[in-house]
Amino acid sequence: MLTNSHFHIAPDLQQAASACATLIVERLADAIATRGMATLALSGGSTPARMFPLLAEAELDWQRVHVFFVDERMVPPTHEDSNFRLAQSLFLALPPVPAANVHRIHGEEDPEDAAASYEAAIAEVFGLDAEEEEIPTFDVIHLGMGDDAHTASLFPGEAAIDDLEGLAAAVYVEKLGAWRVTLLPAVLQAARCTVFLLSGAGKAAPLDTVLVEPYNPKRYPAQLVRHNLEVHWFLDQAAKPSDEGMSHGRS
Ligand code: 6PG
Repeated sequence: MLTNSHFHIAPDLQQAASACATLIVERLADAIATRGMATLALSGGSTPARMFPLLAEAELDWQRVHVFFVDERMVPPTHEDSNFRLAQSLFLALPPVPAANVHRIHGEEDPEDAAASYEAAIAEVFGLDAEEEEIPTFDVIHLGMGDDAHTASLFPGEAAIDDLEGLAAAVYVEKLGAWRVTLLPAVLQAARCTVFLLSGAGKAAPLDTVLVEPYNPKRYPAQLVRHNLEVHWFLDQAAKPSDEGMSHGRS
């Protein structure tokens, strides 16, 4: 039976983050060996803070890696809520990731402008033909998931979940009363390797729902990547879903 979802349960977040970072680096190294370069998109929030330093110390030809962001809060890059700031401070500012290879979403700009300039940056690095409405294939996309099953900045009920053509968009998150810029479903679904890093008891029940419920990404956005080529769930023990959930995920 073909299975695309893999579950990696670690005793604690540090070990889950370490296993996640190891897989990310392996897949990026494969991409560099195969195509001479690699592309990675990182999520923000709080959980990735434990993983970013592990990426920073990994042996990899980072000069050949282009790093993007899955989403961004519409704040300046120095703001404490900035996903870029989190990754920059713990990972990207350290050698040897070249600054030219880091493609942040301009959170300090108007949301629509930031989304448009981000789409242009993606198109440039991936060499996309805008006329052809091509979708980039990231080697690795790193995702988190909220307790409401949101991923990226695609929250339940978000109209952009139905946008299967765009690359990135500005979305107003009612729940947060804030604008975000986020990668759109087609980009998330095209990833060669999709990794989730989840931690804490609050994620176990929503993860179970995401795994067991029939495909309904408007209600459970994290389901969007359910049929991706390769999906790895890195979890600490507290976030572990039920055996039923994992068997659904593997089927
Ligand atoms: C963000 C993230 C978001 C995050 C989830 C989980 O900008 O907040 O990209 O999608 O992955 O909200 O966040 P935690 O890891 O903090 O639980």
